[in-house]
Amino acid sequence: MAIEGAGHGPDGSGFTAVVLAAGKGTRMRSDRPKVLHALAGRSMLGHVLVAVQEAGAARLAVVVEPGRADVAEEIARLAPGASVHPQAERLGTAHAVLAARAALDGSEADLLVAFGDTPLITAETYARLRAPLRAGAAVAVLAFEAENPAGYGRVLTEDGRVRAIREEKDASEAERQVRLSNAGLMALAGPHALSLLARIGNDNANREYYLTDAVALAVAEGLAVAVVPVAESEALGVNDRVQLGVAEATIQARLRRAAQLGGATLVAPETVFLGADTVLGRDVTIEPHCVFGPGVVIGDGCTIRAFSHLHDARLMDGVDIGPHVRLRGGAVLEAGVHLGNFVEIKNATLHAGAKASHLTYLGDAEVGAGANIGAGTITCNYDGVSKHRTVIGAGAFIGSNAALVAPVRIGDGALVGAGSVITQDVPGDALALARGRQVTRAGAARALRETLKAAKAARAAKMARESAASE
Ligand code: UD1
Ligand code: MG
Repeated sequence: MAIEGAGHGPDGSGFTAVVLAAGKGTRMRSDRPKVLHALAGRSMLGHVLVAVQEAGAARLAVVVEPGRADVAEEIARLAPGASVHPQAERLGTAHAVLAARAALDGSEADLLVAFGDTPLITAETYARLRAPLRAGAAVAVLAFEAENPAGYGRVLTEDGRVRAIREEKDASEAERQVRLSNAGLMALAGPHALSLLARIGNDNANREYYLTDAVALAVAEGLAVAVVPVAESEALGVNDRVQLGVAEATIQARLRRAAQLGGATLVAPETVFLGADTVLGRDVTIEPHCVFGPGVVIGDGCTIRAFSHLHDARLMDGVDIGPHVRLRGGAVLEAGVHLGNFVEIKNATLHAGAKASHLTYLGDAEVGAGANIGAGTITCNYDGVSKHRTVIGAGAFIGSNAALVAPVRIGDGALVGAGSVITQDVPGDALALARGRQVTRAGAARALRETLKAAKAARAAKMARESAASE
């Protein structure tokens, strides 16, 4: 999905988003930072960055664990304008927001705090969270009625008005009975944001600076605090790989629905796994059990047959592939290309109408318009050290089971005989045969068969004599 409208909110005014992503993620039991674990081929952090930009963030600041080049790279890739702020010590969510102080100072823009590990919050929800600020609220919190609120901060109300958020560890028995739970994210009105944040202390069970304390501070000053509802499933925070799996299922359900509403037929939707950035044209049909990795763009009227796996591939209109096709990095299939079963394409362009109907590998190649690649054709693109290109001309015909040893060029309209191992260029309209010449000897099969049978009988007779002599 394209990142559109970044820079300004729906009302035309920008806001600053601070994304907290300095968590260690111990429970993931991983060498990779938690926020880089992927959902639908995009990191959790990536989902959050895309959503807050879609919601209209004018400025984006991300708080990270110091020294994580991989996290910084992901931020540069998905939110090139974002500033990155290391948080040396993890002293709580308010402390983390203030780690991005350089991005907040001197700005009266509203502040939206997002978490890098709540990847399911949509752009629409971020925009809803911010809306009460325009109606005069100083703080807006996102909350849900939890099935089981254990572990969440509780949103405490009095006469229907928010008084405070109490973290589980600091809550009284009575407060723990409250089910209205804080999703964690918060919006703070520009004029109040920094002064509230700066006054938050750490006088609590964890000795942490809690962002949630902004609520009680605002209430004490007579400022309005709004609660914005969200579904518990959308507020899911990912702390372990079980939750990662739950989040993946939610994202896939959303992507499938969007694909269907956009004009694609998913024959068995629950078996199709889409990428967060998959682009599907109109009247695309996807048969059961297909997987789309990152970077796939499919044109109108394409058919992706069962058990195909696509990654970093572009299909123009009317392409028909599969079943069992694998497209790897840099596959470009122009209009009307047809690929049949067990065909693998890597870093190759097939021009309009080219066909490879069975059992073929085309890597580092270019295939001309209308060329026909016979069953079992392989481009031998790798010599163990370097990759080389194969160029096949328009209208060429490659016979079955040909090995094209790259670098090699087959001219337009050329014909390669079946079973050939082609090591030299073939000019246009030439016929190339590179295989042993056939020898046919009349009656020789029968003669050979008889010789073999006679030898077998002689061996059996010899064994029978030997065993009689030894008795
Ligand atoms: C927080 C909320 C809690 C809410 C819950 C929802 C606070 C004090 N509590 O608790 O009310 O119910 O989320 O899931 O805000 N982080 C940093 N640096 C820090 C601390 C945290 O970057 O010093 C990041 C974490 O990586 C994470 C996010 O902030 O992305 C939330 O921190 P976490 O420790 O998970 O807060 P909770 O205890 O879950
Ligand atoms: Mg948490």
